[in-house]
Amino acid sequence: MTPVIEVKNLLAGYLPGVNILNGANLYANKGELIGIIGPNGAGKSTLLKAIFGLVNVRDGSISLNGEDITGLKANKLVAKGVGFVPQNNNVFPSLTIEENLQMGIYQDPSHFDQRLEFVVDIFGELGKRLKQRAGSLSGGERQMVAMGRALMMDPQVLLLDEPSAGLSPVRQDEAFIRVSDINKAGVTTIMVEQNARRCLQISDRGYVLDQGVDAVEGSGRELMDDPKVVELYLGSLGA
Ligand SMILES: Nc1ncnc2c1ncn2[C@@H]1O[C@H](COP(=O)(O)OP(=O)(O)O)[C@@H](O)[C@H]1O
Ligand SMILES: [Mg+2]
Repeated sequence: MTPVIEVKNLLAGYLPGVNILNGANLYANKGELIGIIGPNGAGKSTLLKAIFGLVNVRDGSISLNGEDITGLKANKLVAKGVGFVPQNNNVFPSLTIEENLQMGIYQDPSHFDQRLEFVVDIFGELGKRLKQRAGSLSGGERQMVAMGRALMMDPQVLLLDEPSAGLSPVRQDEAFIRVSDINKAGVTTIMVEQNARRCLQISDRGYVLDQGVDAVEGSGRELMDDPKVVELYLGSLGA
C-alpha cells in the first residue's frame, strides 16, 4: 500500500547552515491517526510546516499518494488535499464562523454547502452559531473553527499542531475526542502533541521526534509501554 504521506530523510531549517530537521522520516497510511511527540524544540512544528511547504526543504522528500510534493507551496498543497492547522493564530478573529469556513474553501466555493454539512456533523455547535465572530469564541471553540476550516477542502490528510494546547483539562479531552471523530470520519490525520500520553492513547501509530530525527516509532501502545520512551519522553508528568 502506498502511504498517503511519506516523508523521507528530511533536512530542513530556517537559517542558512542550521538544520532543524536532521533526516526525519514518517509515513501515514490511509485512515491512520499518527501522533508525533517529543521534547520542546525537537522540530515537531517544523516538520508539519515543512510538509505544508512553509519551511525550506534542503534534502529528502515528501510524497502524497506516491506523488512528489516536496517544495510545493501551501495553496497548491491545499488543492491537492493537504490540510494544516497551525498551533497559533489559526482563525480570523474579526470574521464570523461561517466566513472562516468560507476561507477554507475559497479555491472551490461551489462545494461550500456540502462541506459545511460534513463539518457541522462533527462540530455541531458551530452550525448553530455561524454568524458569530470567531474572536468572541473560547479557545476550544476556536480550535474547532480552525479544524473545521481545514476540513472544508475535504483533505486526504490533516496536519494538526497541538490541538489541545492552551485549553483547560476538560477542553483538552474534548479536543482529543474531536480529533478521533475526524479520523473516524475517514480523514488520515497527523497530530503533534505536548500532551504525549493522551496523544498516544488515541493514535494508531506514533513517532518520537528528538533533535529533528524520528528517534522511536511504534504503535501508540508500544510507545506508551516502552520504558525508554517513558523515562525520556513521557516521564512522571504524563502519568
Ligand atoms: N521561524 C523560525 N526561525 C528560526 N528558528 C526557528 C523558527 N521556528 C522555530 N525555530 C527553531 O527551530 C527549533 C525547533 O522548533 P519547533 O519546530 O517549533 O519545535 P517543537 O514544535 O518540537 O517545539 C527550535 O530551536 C526553534 O527555536
Ligand atoms: Mg511546536
